[in-house]
Amino acid sequence: MIDKTRIPAHVAIIMDGNGRWAKKRGLPRVAGHNAGMKTMKKIVDHSDKLGIQYLTVYAFSTENWKRSAVEVSGIFKLLVTYVNSELQELIDNNVKVKVLGDYSSIPSDAKKSLEKTLEQTKENTGLQFNIALNYGGRDEIRRAVCDIGRDIQQGLLKPEDITEELIGNHLFTGNLHADVPDPELVIRTSGELRLSNYLLWQTAYSELVFADVLWPDFTTEEYEKAICEYQSRDRRFGGR
Ligand code: IPE
Ligand code: IPE
Ligand code: MG
Repeated sequence: MIDKTRIPAHVAIIMDGNGRWAKKRGLPRVAGHNAGMKTMKKIVDHSDKLGIQYLTVYAFSTENWKRSAVEVSGIFKLLVTYVNSELQELIDNNVKVKVLGDYSSIPSDAKKSLEKTLEQTKENTGLQFNIALNYGGRDEIRRAVCDIGRDIQQGLLKPEDITEELIGNHLFTGNLHADVPDPELVIRTSGELRLSNYLLWQTAYSELVFADVLWPDFTTEEYEKAICEYQSRDRRFGGR
């Protein structure tokens, strides 16, 4: 049973296994992504019910461009369908949507739908739902270094002014962007045991939980199980 008094404020999820789910059924990979979107919707709803304040999902990495054009365009089409069909419900549920990653180069219809969603949910005060899209942890750090370098060049900052906090502020999760605390819990589905360039800076002390199920098969029960596992961990942060 989940301890409702110790719900993590921020849960980050690596939604992995859509392709394998489809393959097992003899379906095209895009069918797996479609099933994955349905799981994502359930998990957004359930996060809200559990009182989680921030949910961040890895929807598309900076490395996922290596996939076939059919798969990539399929993923973005599904994203458009999701945001268009869910917008009203997100508004009704007081969910604030944010994007982590540079979405300037995604297909224009996806960009338009996304911008509308960001705009229409920006005043909401409930669950903050962050979609990591064209996101890579190294790319994010590179961009932060670039921004800080520019400020130094313009004389606004000195190298000695660079603190961990300053770097954090310049990340997509920082207070200059989506403004999200570090995730206490990271969940990856599909049995893969790696971060795949997800939130590299922010996960320094996150608890990692790996679920063996493929993302389309991930249920609210599995989700609660992962949170229970997190609650059983002894978080020491380098202390005794
Ligand atoms: C995760 O599922 C979704 C994205 C990366 C967009 P995958 O598509 O990586 O599924 P597998 O890992 O091939 O099964
Ligand atoms: C990570 O999964 C990215 C997303 C879930 C969007 P991948 O399937 O791309 O990661 P690798 O290739 O297995 O490391
Ligand atoms: Mg994968």
